Amino acid sequence: MNDVDTTPLDEKRGMFSSRRVFILAAIGSAVGLGNIWRFPYVAYENGGGAFVLPYLVALLTAGIPFLLLDYALGHRNRGSAPLSFARQHRATEGLGWWQVGICFMIAVYYAAVLAWAARYTIFAVTEAWGDDPAGFFIGEFLRVGDTTISTEIVMGVALPLALVWIALLVVLSLGVQKGIGATAVVFIPILLLTFGALVVQALLLPGAAQGLNTLFTPNWEALTHPGVWAAAYGQIFFSLSIGFGIMITYSSYVRRKTDMPGSGLVIGFSNSGFELLAGIGVFAALGFMAQASGVAVTEVASGGIGLAFIAFPAIISEAPLGVLLGVLFFGSLVLAGFTSLVSVIEVVISAVRDKFEMTRVGATVAVSVPAAVLSLLFFSTTSGLHVLDILDNFINKFGILAVAVVSMVVMAWLVRALDPLAAHLNLHTSVHIGLWWKVLVAAVAPLALSYVLVLEFRDAVRTPYGDGDYPAWMIGTFGWGAALAVLVFGLVATLVPWRTGTSLTSPGEVDRASTTGEEVR
Ligand code: PFF
Repeated sequence: MNDVDTTPLDEKRGMFSSRRVFILAAIGSAVGLGNIWRFPYVAYENGGGAFVLPYLVALLTAGIPFLLLDYALGHRNRGSAPLSFARQHRATEGLGWWQVGICFMIAVYYAAVLAWAARYTIFAVTEAWGDDPAGFFIGEFLRVGDTTISTEIVMGVALPLALVWIALLVVLSLGVQKGIGATAVVFIPILLLTFGALVVQALLLPGAAQGLNTLFTPNWEALTHPGVWAAAYGQIFFSLSIGFGIMITYSSYVRRKTDMPGSGLVIGFSNSGFELLAGIGVFAALGFMAQASGVAVTEVASGGIGLAFIAFPAIISEAPLGVLLGVLFFGSLVLAGFTSLVSVIEVVISAVRDKFEMTRVGATVAVSVPAAVLSLLFFSTTSGLHVLDILDNFINKFGILAVAVVSMVVMAWLVRALDPLAAHLNLHTSVHIGLWWKVLVAAVAPLALSYVLVLEFRDAVRTPYGDGDYPAWMIGTFGWGAALAVLVFGLVATLVPWRTGTSLTSPGEVDRASTTGEEVR
């Protein structure tokens, strides 16, 4: 085996200084808004306490196996998503660019949500929303207009959004360890403290127990509905940041002799642990709200943007020590969202650096500045919320889920890469990657996910997204159009040649050959 742990090339690309930093960065990516505002509601809607079963099955049969596939691809091939795919098999480069396109789109709108959360951390101090949080959010803060594309900039959004992009530019320019790694090392412990404090405060509110009962009362009958299983697989994929190219990129920055499967287990279970904690905190708070307004918890349960920016402000206004609750809640959203946002943009930066001869700072500017401009143009105007809602829905379903299914099928069946990838993972591991992994990645996970995808597709065709709230052209452009555009981008980007001197031979192949004395192609 190669005795040198890092090569000059690795040094140039950037590296995490230790396994611990990598694990924190990966947790930083996985733990995001999805954990805080998506999981509690998905769990509640899909069987409550009984959801634990499909959720765990999805984590073990698809989430962790696919996470390990991402790690194997990135760690063996030591490249950005497109380069890692290309090194695994030349014909698969487009899968990586498809992911790069998806990440670019996500970055552009996720930054806006982060800017809202940052602004709301400040609003929470004075409870600026008064006694009408919904009217304040839609009318005063976002100044949402009708469903046309508007060019009217809302300064209250544009300024924090510009600041978010400046912060991202600084962190990403600092590179893998000093920027991404250091941010995770600082942010993740602070996030745990703030969110932990929030959960404790929420649990002390009157009515909290009722909220928890509503979340956890198991509805075993739900397990007979295929849609509930589909929701579990969908949640796990989004929540673990797999299929985005993020984990491929991050694992390419990890030292060679690292136990990747063991790291995957730590990351997978930490992410789910945080998700559970979020479920407890959010439903305790909803229980309080229900009691305070004399209605059932089911009446106040919600998820997503509505939960964070409408329901939570109402809770904050009612709760004892509400200001503290508000700052902890929105502060947690900012911390969790920032480390996730950093990870999606890094996918793009890393790919651009691999393809063209560019310095770290040059690539960061080349990616972030256009992204920031698009972000400001589309999401700080009065039509921002509509576009964001549609784009988020379609990119998640017909971008991330679709690329995940296709890449598993291609890797397992078309280019038959699972054996070399498993062998790579097994070079340094605390868990043996055997036949079980191949069966899960080649059959169980793609079948389960294809099923989810078909269900989603059927629903999207039957009932247009938003139930008539959005005109067809808007769904066509920012929904189907955007999902198709990233796919086409993926194919076209493969036509651009790699910068001179790029080897498409996998460094993993070199490692393996040096142990067997074989010659590398
Ligand atoms: N795992 C992330 C979450 O749960 O929020 C998913 C994610 C979303 C990652 C958006 C990155 C991102 F920009």
